[in-house]
Amino acid sequence: MSILRAEHLEKTFGGSSGGAASVAALKNVDLAVERGEFVAITGASGSGKSTLLHLLGGIARPTAGSVLLEGVDLASLDDDALARVRRRRIGFVFQRYNLLPELSLVENVALPLVLDGIASGRSEEAARAALETVGLSNRAEHRPDELSGGEQQRGAIARALVAEPAIVLADEPTGALDSVNSRRVIELLMRLSTDQQQTVILVTHDPSIAAAAGRTIQMRDGRIEADRRNGTVGNAVAPTVPP
Ligand SMILES: Nc1ncnc2c1ncn2[C@@H]1O[C@H](COP(=O)(O)OP(=O)(O)OP(=O)(O)O)[C@@H](O)[C@H]1O
Ligand SMILES: [Mg+2]
Repeated sequence: MSILRAEHLEKTFGGSSGGAASVAALKNVDLAVERGEFVAITGASGSGKSTLLHLLGGIARPTAGSVLLEGVDLASLDDDALARVRRRRIGFVFQRYNLLPELSLVENVALPLVLDGIASGRSEEAARAALETVGLSNRAEHRPDELSGGEQQRGAIARALVAEPAIVLADEPTGALDSVNSRRVIELLMRLSTDQQQTVILVTHDPSIAAAAGRTIQMRDGRIEADRRNGTVGNAVAPTVPP
């Protein structure tokens, strides 16, 4: 069973479907992703990459078609159940880090667990472990505005990992980073798929990142234009991020 499957996925924004004001952002997308895959999604601006990621992650609902996560059709879940699946099974990393400014880093990272009703001691313990994974233990008590862009993005990744999700979805997580930090973030995500068999789906404009992924999906005008396996399985970049 594929860990994630999209069938005839469609997303239309605005107006009545097919009407003059409507935008067909995704058109009949079929996709199956296996456990432990590292997938890069590329394509021009407006081609539907973020829309696809949002639907796969249950952040938005499709106009038609279905998303199956671990065999469960997300459309069969009400909003509460969907939110629970998002918190427990999916880690989402946004292009902008979206850390809450008034919370410390460790509080930010623990938030998905706290929201899920996990006791604060256990939540904090897990948050500190996730921060160690991304090499930020020494920044746990800092607020986001006291961190560099790369540190904030790694903090956002720690937050995405804290619930040990089966799937990590990352929308241009290196878009705002310099090349050194960008490389660290990518290496970290690759390690998740190679070492922990977590599934990573990453949107990127960077051809070298796409080339290093095990699989590249190219979007064009709301459709999948190409879907290639790249031979290397996500470990083309040597892992050098501190443990
Ligand atoms: N909320 C919305 N309302 C109306 N149209 C939208 C909305 N979100 C996205 N779109 C449209 O859907 C299409 C796909 O958008 P999407 O954000 O998925 O593109 P993208 O490939 O992620 O682009 P980028 O590389 O610029 O982030 C675009 O034409 C966009 O204008
Ligand atoms: Mg986008």
